[in-house]
Amino acid sequence: MGKKANILVVDDDLGPRESLKIILKPYYNVYAVEKGEDAVQILHKVPVDVVTIDLKMRGLHGIKVLEKVKKHDPDIEAIIITGFGSMDSAIDGLRLGAFDYISKPFDVKQILTLIRRALERRNAKLRLKEQSTAEQMRARKAEEVNRRKRQLVSALAHDIKNPLGLITGYTELLLERLRNMPEACEDLQFLCQIQTGAQRITKLVGGFLDTAQLEAGYNVIRTPVNLNRLIREVAQQQILALQMKRLDLSLSLDDRLPDILGDEAQLGRVLWNLVDNAVKFTSSGGNISVTSGTERDEVVVEVKDTGIGIPQDELPHLFSEFGRLRGSRRIEGTGLGLFIVKTIVEAHGGKVGATSKEGEGTTFSLRFSRTR
Ligand SMILES: Nc1ncnc2c1ncn2[C@@H]1O[C@H](COP(=O)(O)OP(=O)(O)OP(=O)(O)O)[C@@H](O)[C@H]1O
Ligand SMILES: [Mg+2]
Repeated sequence: MGKKANILVVDDDLGPRESLKIILKPYYNVYAVEKGEDAVQILHKVPVDVVTIDLKMRGLHGIKVLEKVKKHDPDIEAIIITGFGSMDSAIDGLRLGAFDYISKPFDVKQILTLIRRALERRNAKLRLKEQSTAEQMRARKAEEVNRRKRQLVSALAHDIKNPLGLITGYTELLLERLRNMPEACEDLQFLCQIQTGAQRITKLVGGFLDTAQLEAGYNVIRTPVNLNRLIREVAQQQILALQMKRLDLSLSLDDRLPDILGDEAQLGRVLWNLVDNAVKFTSSGGNISVTSGTERDEVVVEVKDTGIGIPQDELPHLFSEFGRLRGSRRIEGTGLGLFIVKTIVEAHGGKVGATSKEGEGTTFSLRFSRTR
């Protein structure tokens, strides 16, 4: 048997009050009061589970008492006891959240059943509440663990940067020295391997620190930005890569493209990443096109390629952190590019999306609201 429940009986008539006390006493702790005002005092002293309220009372009316009970704790169940002709008020009581009502005169079995059911409902409600708080606590804890892990990894990434700088710096120096020594040919090859590895770590660490910073509440510095100009800049930066892979890049830009409000450097990164991907994931001889235009009140930029494409089932994972897809295993990358793209675009209130067909190509689209 668990703890005895606490029942508060509010009735200004001595007869019913005493009889309720006698009926309930064997099963519950009973607190019986004569006036509504006294009821409120008991609520502050005792954790009441169920209250029975006589509707017609001198002084504070039963409905008012019910209001006060529910205000004190909405989970306390209330049973309204009505006399002759107080049906309307009983309905009001139900509207205010009373569990049920019972008319005088009532028999012992009836009232005991009603109180037991009220208690069952109260306990069920409390159990539900406990469960959801336990879940919330679990979620909060998981979030905290996650945050700490990120902090730790960020600190680690940060600390790796310095020694890494030493490694790449001195490798560079040795490469310079050995470059013109035919007898060092093999050592040069080893050094090249070291350099490639170190560069890869540098990129990973840099990318990670960038995303950590972006996630930690990246503030967009907003100035009017002309995306056409940024697109031309990115095309310029990619010229060498395009030539090396014999790829054709065509721009079809809307001359009257409105500016958008944003952070120019970050938007540049977005475009660079999309074009970089298009170059990386398109085989020699393919085409890449970048278009800009407006659709209703949005500025839309599309980066389209005739590359390897992305399988339909992999599209949903495209923008996740470190998300690299099956087809890209043999192509250099960290899998952070698109995550950075999404974070920046969303920080600008924009949207990024992708459509693709395996073996045919991929189109990424950016949408931003235009400035008025
Ligand atoms: N234009 C594209 N065509 C085909 N697959 C693509 C294209 N763009 C992205 N992907 C796929 O999405 C994955 C994630 O792209 P993302 O730019 O985030 O990473 P990455 O290019 O591999 O590495 P990083 O950009 O960090 O150097 C890629 O590894 C590739 O599998
Ligand atoms: Mg990329």
